[in-house]
Amino acid sequence: MNILGLKMGVCAAALLLAAPGMAPAAGKPAAGRPWMNAKLSPDARADLVLAKLSLDEQIALLHGSMPMFMGGKKPAGVQISAGYFPGVPELNIPDLTESDASLGVANAGRKDDDATPLPSGLALAATWDPKTAFASGAMIGKEARQKGFNTLLAGGVNLLRDPRNGRNFEYLGEDPLLAGTLAGHTIKGVQSNHIVSTVKHFALNDQETGRMVLDGQIDEAAFRESDLLAFEIAIETGHPGSVMCAYNRVGGTYACENPFLLTDVLRKDWHYPGWVMSDWGAVHGVAAAKAGLDQESGQQLDKQVFFDAPLKAAVASGEVSKTRIHEMAHRYLRSLFAAGVVDHPVTAGGLDTAADALVAGRAEEQAIVLLKNDANLLPLMKTARKIAVIGGHADVGVISGGGSSQVIPTGSASFPKPKGAPQWGGGQIYTPGAPLKAIAARAPGAQVSFNDGADPAAAAALAEASDVVVVFATQWSTEGMDIAMKLDGDQDRLIAAVTAANPKTVVVLETAGPVTMPWRDKAGAILEAWFPGARGADAIGKVLFGEVDPQGRLPVSFPASEAQLARPVLPGSDQNIVETLTPSASKPFDVKYTEGSDVGYRGYAKSGDKPLYPFGYGLSYTVFRYSGLKVTGGKTLTARFTVTNVSNVAGTDTPQVYLTAGPKRTQQRLIGWSKLALKPGEARVVTVTAPARMLANWDSAGHGWKVDGGSYKLAVGPDAATAALKGSATVVAAKLKP
Ligand code: BGC
Repeated sequence: MNILGLKMGVCAAALLLAAPGMAPAAGKPAAGRPWMNAKLSPDARADLVLAKLSLDEQIALLHGSMPMFMGGKKPAGVQISAGYFPGVPELNIPDLTESDASLGVANAGRKDDDATPLPSGLALAATWDPKTAFASGAMIGKEARQKGFNTLLAGGVNLLRDPRNGRNFEYLGEDPLLAGTLAGHTIKGVQSNHIVSTVKHFALNDQETGRMVLDGQIDEAAFRESDLLAFEIAIETGHPGSVMCAYNRVGGTYACENPFLLTDVLRKDWHYPGWVMSDWGAVHGVAAAKAGLDQESGQQLDKQVFFDAPLKAAVASGEVSKTRIHEMAHRYLRSLFAAGVVDHPVTAGGLDTAADALVAGRAEEQAIVLLKNDANLLPLMKTARKIAVIGGHADVGVISGGGSSQVIPTGSASFPKPKGAPQWGGGQIYTPGAPLKAIAARAPGAQVSFNDGADPAAAAALAEASDVVVVFATQWSTEGMDIAMKLDGDQDRLIAAVTAANPKTVVVLETAGPVTMPWRDKAGAILEAWFPGARGADAIGKVLFGEVDPQGRLPVSFPASEAQLARPVLPGSDQNIVETLTPSASKPFDVKYTEGSDVGYRGYAKSGDKPLYPFGYGLSYTVFRYSGLKVTGGKTLTARFTVTNVSNVAGTDTPQVYLTAGPKRTQQRLIGWSKLALKPGEARVVTVTAPARMLANWDSAGHGWKVDGGSYKLAVGPDAATAALKGSATVVAAKLKP
C-alpha cells in the first residue's frame, strides 16, 4: 500500500477510537501576561510571548503532526484531522487544530461525523458573488469552531490552466481577478469566526499528475499576471493567517523551499505578515527554513522531521540564524493573535447542519449555469404528466469530489471509485438529497419514473414514453489524479440514446469542470450543476421548475476538445501516475506554461479558436439588453452602462467588462463585473471601475506594475466572447508598487 493508502487506512481505524471533542482551550488571561492585552498589536503580542520562550520552545512551535500517525502520543481529545500542533497553555497559546476545508469542514473518512458540504469551488466561482463567498466561508468557519478546530486549510486559488486537473473542483476557475476576489472573500468569511484560514497551494500546483516532482516553468511577468495575481488579490482581500506552499517545483526549486516565492514575492513585494506552512509531505530539508518556510506540517509524511533536530543542528552550526527562528515563530504567533485564535479559544458544540445546509443550497442556486435551452424547454411545466429521470444516481444524491477536501455528511452514500484511483476515503461519495425527490416534489400531479441509465436501450424506451426527460450525468474527480475532459464511463452513449428517443431531454451535468458534449446538438436543454453540495438537489429542482432564475456564469471556458488545450497531452500522463505523497512515485518532469498569462478565454481571444462555451457564459429564463456605454479614463477605466430586463419574468444578470487592448499590448482581460436582479421591464445603470492593476503589465526590469499611458479599449458583454458594447478612454501612465 502506498503512503497515501496508509494515510487513509490508518485514519479509518483511528476514527473508531477518536473521541469527538474539542481542542484543549487556552487558559484564562491573568496578571503578568501582557500579551493578553488585546489593545496591543498582534506583532507586539507575539514578541511578548516569544520573550518567554527558549530557542527549543520556539522550534517546537514550528513542526506538527497528523494526529492519525501519533499513536499513543496523541493527547486525549485531539481529533483525527489534518493537523495538530501543541500550544503553550501556560502562556495562553492554544493548540493549533487544523481541518481541511476547501468545501466544508472535511472529516477524513469519518462516517460517524456530520458537516455541511458546500458546492464545489468552481460552483462558487460560477456565482460571481463575493457575498456568497463570504457567507460560505463564514458558515464553514462557524462549523469549524463548533467542531473544535481553530484553523481551516481553505482558500484554494490555483488557476484552472487545464480542465483535467483533478483538483479544479476545489479551485475558482481560470481568471485571476474572479478567483482571487472570491477566494479572498471566502477567507474573510472563515476568519470572521476568529479562526485562521490558509490560502493554498502557493504556487503553480496546476495539475495533480506528478505534483510531488514536476517543475512548473513560466516567465516571471506572465506568472505575476496570472497565478501569482490570483494569490495576491486573495491575500489583499482576505488577509489569511497562513499561506500553504505547494508540493511541486517552480523554476527548478520546490515551492516550499523557493526563495523567489516565499521571500521575494510574498515578503518583500507583498509584505505578507503571516506564516507559511508546508503542504503535507512537501518539506525536503532545512533549506526550506532559509528560503522562507515557517512551519512544517504533517511531519510524519516527510523523510525526516526537518524542523526539529535538523533545524536545531542548523542553528547550532550557524546555517540558520536564531533571528530566523524568532521570525518564523513570530509570524505564526502574530497570526494567531491577529485572527483572534488566542482571544477567542474554540469551544465545540452547537453544530446545526440543517441550518448550515441552507447556506450551501443558496450558493448552489446561484451557481447552476444554463448552457442551452431550445424552445424554452426549461423551466419545466408543472403540467408535464410523465417525467423520466435517468442516471447519475439521481435517486440517491449528488456527486462530490474526493481527496483531503472530502466532506461526508450524515446519510451519504458511497459508490465504487474507478480502478486505480487514489486511496482517499471510501469511494465516490454522494451527498444526501436526491434530485429525483426534488423533481417529484415539484410535479405533484405527474408520474415521475426513474431509470438508472445502466442500460441505454431501457433508458431510451422510458424516455420515448415520457413527456419530458431529465438525465443526470456525472464526472468524478479527486485529489491525487487528473481526469479526462469527459463524462465518466459510457454516459455519453446513454445521453445520445436518450436524446435520440426524446428531444425534450434536459441534461443536468454534475461535473468537476468542463467536459465535452458530443450529444449537445440533440439535447433540448443543458444545465451545469457542478458538484452541488448540501441541498444541491433542491437547488437543481428550483432551477428546473423556474423557482430560481439560472444565474450562474461559467468561471472557466469549456473547450470544444482536448486539442484546444495549451497542452493537448497532459504532461506526465505517459507515466500513468496516480499521485501519492512519496516523491519517488514518479520521475521528475517539466510543465512549460508557454501560454503564460493567456489562460483560458485570453488564449481563445488570441488564437481566434471557438470554445464549446466561453468563459462568463450562462443563459437566463429572461432576456437582458445592454445599452448606453460611457467610458471614462484617468487613473483607471470606469464603464457606465444600462442593463434592461426586456422580458416578462424577473431575473439576475452578470454583465462583464473586459479590457480588449491597451496602448502597447493586446490582451483580453476581465477587469470587472456586476451582478444584479431585475424585475420584468426594469432598467438599471451599472458602474464598473477597473482596479488600476488590471490595466497594468508586469515590468520585470522595473520590478513593478506599469500602466502604459494612452488609449484603452474595452467591451461589455454577457461573456468573454460577446462584445455587446464597445468603448475606449485614455488612461495616464503610472507605476504601481508590486
Ligand atoms: C493537500 C492539502 C491538504 C493537506 C492536508 C495535502 O495532500 O494537498 O490541500 O490541506 O493534504 O490534508
